[in-house]
Amino acid sequence: MSIKVAPSILSADFSRLGEEIKAVERAGADLLHVDVMDGHFVPNITLGPAIVGSIRKVTGLPLDVHLMIENPGDFIDAFVKAGSDMLTLHIESVSAGDIAAVSRKLKKQGVKTGISLNPPTPFSEIKGVLNEVDFVLVMTVNPGFGGQSFMPEVIPKIRELRSFFTGEIAVDGGINDITGKEAVSAGADMLAAGSFIFNSIDYKQAIRSLQCLK
Ligand code: DX5
Ligand code: ZN
Repeated sequence: MSIKVAPSILSADFSRLGEEIKAVERAGADLLHVDVMDGHFVPNITLGPAIVGSIRKVTGLPLDVHLMIENPGDFIDAFVKAGSDMLTLHIESVSAGDIAAVSRKLKKQGVKTGISLNPPTPFSEIKGVLNEVDFVLVMTVNPGFGGQSFMPEVIPKIRELRSFFTGEIAVDGGINDITGKEAVSAGADMLAAGSFIFNSIDYKQAIRSLQCLK
């Protein structure tokens, strides 16, 4: 089975967002990674439900919406309504109890729930919610910006998670064909990659090089 690749549109040319999305879809992307930032949880602001709704209209790819925001629970309904297929919340901005409730609700709506953790957050913080979620998104950069360098010190955490968790493990931040291989060797099934794909000349080749890591 090949690795699932989610181009992160944060590194796309936003003035041609529809075309960029169609280009990665044609190039073989498995899903689309959409970074939502609120200027509080991370020091950057990106987009909200209205843009997710517009993206939904131009692609058939599953939308993997990564919520880097405070009070994510307040926005779940809006992102579901906009057409998200997967919603990732951060353990740093949600309680374990809220995750369980959100996950139960999303399941009824056919939306997958992911939990993410930042590089400094230990695995123990998410251990208690692993039974509630469909997948885990491990951050290998401090979230906020595309184009940062992969943090190899996170690799042992991916390995530890793999030994406990049978669901999908996604890795996000600084992924290219070299760092992606390290993440896959540690147990990743899915790679979110922004600059590696959108800064490449050949999207198809870049996506394929990540899908082939397993
Ligand atoms: C970082 C975002 C990532 C980012 C990845 O805060 O969550 O999804 O877009 O970009 P690259 O692949 O360039 O590190
Ligand atoms: Zn992301």
